[in-house]
Amino acid sequence: MSLSRGDGFVHLADYRAPAWRVLHAGLVFELDPAATTVESVLSLEPDPARPGQPVTLDGEGLELLAIELDGRALGGDGYAYDGHQLTILDPGRACELRTRVRIHPDANTRLEGLYQSGRLLLTQCEAQGFRRITFMADRPDVMPRWRITLRAARDAFPVLLANGNPVSSRGLGDGRHEAVWENPHPTPAYLFAIAAGELGRVTKTLRTAEGREVELNVWAEPGDVERCRYALGAVDRSLRWDERRFGRGYDLDVFNVVAAQDFTMGAMENKGLNIFNARYILADEATATDADFLAIESVVAHEYLHNWSGNRVTLRDWFQLSLKEGLTVFRDTEFSSDLHSRALKRIEVVRLLRGRQFAEDAGALAHPVRPDRYKEISNFYTLTIYEKGAEIIRVLHTLVGEDTFRAGMDRYFADNDGKAATLEDFLAAHAAASGRDLAQFARWYAQAGTPELAIRADFDAASGDYTLTIDQHTPATPGQPEKQPLLIPLRFALYDADGGEITTPPEADAVVREGMAELTAARHVLRWRGLRGRPLPAFNHGFAAPVKLQVDYSVDELARLARLERDAFNRWDLLQRLATDALLGAAHAEAATQTLSDVLADLLEDTSADPAFVAECLALPDFDTLAEQVDEVDVEALVGRREELLDRLAEDQVERLQSRYEALADVAAGGLDGPEMSARALRNACLSWLTRLDPQAALAEAQFAAANTMTARLAALRCLLHFQAPGAEAALAAFQQQFRHDPLVTDKWIALVATRPHPEALADVEALMASNWWKATNPNRVRALLGSFARSNPLGFHRRDGAGYRLVATQVASLDAINPQVAARLLGAFESWRRWTAPHRGPAREALAALEGKLGSPDGRDLLERLLG
Ligand code: ARG
Ligand code: ZN
Repeated sequence: MSLSRGDGFVHLADYRAPAWRVLHAGLVFELDPAATTVESVLSLEPDPARPGQPVTLDGEGLELLAIELDGRALGGDGYAYDGHQLTILDPGRACELRTRVRIHPDANTRLEGLYQSGRLLLTQCEAQGFRRITFMADRPDVMPRWRITLRAARDAFPVLLANGNPVSSRGLGDGRHEAVWENPHPTPAYLFAIAAGELGRVTKTLRTAEGREVELNVWAEPGDVERCRYALGAVDRSLRWDERRFGRGYDLDVFNVVAAQDFTMGAMENKGLNIFNARYILADEATATDADFLAIESVVAHEYLHNWSGNRVTLRDWFQLSLKEGLTVFRDTEFSSDLHSRALKRIEVVRLLRGRQFAEDAGALAHPVRPDRYKEISNFYTLTIYEKGAEIIRVLHTLVGEDTFRAGMDRYFADNDGKAATLEDFLAAHAAASGRDLAQFARWYAQAGTPELAIRADFDAASGDYTLTIDQHTPATPGQPEKQPLLIPLRFALYDADGGEITTPPEADAVVREGMAELTAARHVLRWRGLRGRPLPAFNHGFAAPVKLQVDYSVDELARLARLERDAFNRWDLLQRLATDALLGAAHAEAATQTLSDVLADLLEDTSADPAFVAECLALPDFDTLAEQVDEVDVEALVGRREELLDRLAEDQVERLQSRYEALADVAAGGLDGPEMSARALRNACLSWLTRLDPQAALAEAQFAAANTMTARLAALRCLLHFQAPGAEAALAAFQQQFRHDPLVTDKWIALVATRPHPEALADVEALMASNWWKATNPNRVRALLGSFARSNPLGFHRRDGAGYRLVATQVASLDAINPQVAARLLGAFESWRRWTAPHRGPAREALAALEGKLGSPDGRDLLERLLG
């Protein structure tokens, strides 16, 4: 893919198949942190349809030591290398290119390519990191088979891992040793991986449904091995689930997972050798929270499930990114839903969508799930590509149903196995399996912005005619002023005065079946005739359509619905709506507050409800979710109103909170079973509300002192710090001291300090940056301190004096030179700045403008340009 238009963008429309394919890659690494040499032998084959093309290979900043074509050294006139691309005059036939390069892992702070983390050597190649290791057609539609030889000093690097299956290992006599790995599956370079160093493992052998014996290993630095057991179990569960639910087996003799303390993203699905951010592997009850355990299981599943959705079927080009990411998020979400509570998982996902993805879709960085151009692909690993991409798959699943969806997936895997696919291939498989024309559905991928459905109800008491008029609208986004209607499955239900469901289908200008209308036009009308009274409608059950709904309800109607809705997710959703009305719906805010309080009282008294669900109901919409629903974001006012509402609700519930808090103590004391985690969730929600009411009371202090799980301890510490309770300092000091050698737990208290809801938190953040706790090269630490501050501390980040913006922008500039992806992520905190009120907008603009000319990376420059553009 070349920058053929000279506009700085790569365009989807410019895609061309490679003129040269790489059939086989044989690599020999002489590993050394300071200077590693890589010898590569590539078998190259021209596309007969495009004769006369030079061989062009990507290679970023490589020190070229030797180059030979078919055994003959190439002279300066036979090739050219400009530091980015190696060009060889058309050899005119299939040939073998041998190169030797030198690279410097210990100087690699961008953590892309081959780098050092602690005493380990590791790789991260997606999207375009492989070219920092050696020359390659570094694009996903070039899929060689691989043979990888690793050589290193045995004492420093006793374990040598690479993609595929182990072939052989031997000593080399000089204190060095060698391991050879072979990956027989055609695999693009972005899935290449090696890991070397002193690693210990937990291991388990199983036989797959197809009868293959597979060794599962989870590796970590020796002191961390015991904390890998939970992750190992999660690998096992993922493998079994993909066999059962999608009929997909594992296809190598080993599956290795390695945990690294320095890792830019969450984890990476390299073929047969997943590499993880340690925070998504290491866990025990003393150091990980319940949320950590669930996140670990879900990320482990995500990466494992990529083996089919991403690796066996890979991407033709990076525009198709959501083809693997959206699909794999859909799959990992189903995995978690099948294993645990489907309602709780849906609540978690919908919170993320409404709080973060909707904001992205409405801000300066909005982009379609399949963009049609990009400057820097690293900036497209977004909530839109991942989470909205997964929602689109869910829409398809809703439209066709589980069995047809599964048939479509089977067909997609069968037709594209071993190939580099496009969204069109995916849609073609599902169109064939379902017999549906998916042309309009495909617009979900092309149009940015969150669709809005405005629903108006009219009832004619004389005739009993009831109509629902549904208008669909997607707001303009950067580069896309006009939008077309999408295919949206809208679930609905009508309740009569006795709370019975009216099952008569409406007359409609849309396909309607079993409580679902398939909206395809800008407006649809559903009409019922001869109803005995005005019904009460409910919509979008399970949030099946990822849209914003505008429906006018009176508070009485909401209260009735809250009692009618049986489904847990829908009940939660109604409470969110009540809370939103209480906070933003000026006219009946007080009535909404009272209703909300009444419903919460019922819930707190309902000991048959899942306590974790009750905890979710106590958690009001967060700041981001609220900010997304107002035209102009007045930060202090919004935070202030939310705090007031919380105070008021807590006062109303105080006795119920106390009694649930006490009653759940025993179950909450330990263990990772569902009821135990649930009990802790509600108990910690109660603790937070009780501490809010009376920070002087010693409740949080007592929980902190007595805690035997990290979940209880950290929740107590949060209450102490965030409500500025008397025991806060002492508890923080004790916590710091106890876990000072554990970087992951250290990140936890740092994030708590950074998110103290107070403008003065800025000073704490600055103090931490000046301390030994600050590690600018460690992405987790940067996220814990600066990411939490910028994304989850509205009062600190949005200080009136602009100091929050300046701090973050200044750090973006220095981090950009260390790790551009981490810096660019942080810069994304400004995505909604144009919607902030004037006193914030000015300083935000200044902080961004001050960055102009200070960002060296394409990542940072691309983002800044879009933010200011
Ligand atoms: N494919 C990885 C995943 O499972 C993420 C890789 C992110 N890479 C990047 N350059 N941002 O989601
Ligand atoms: Zn992924």
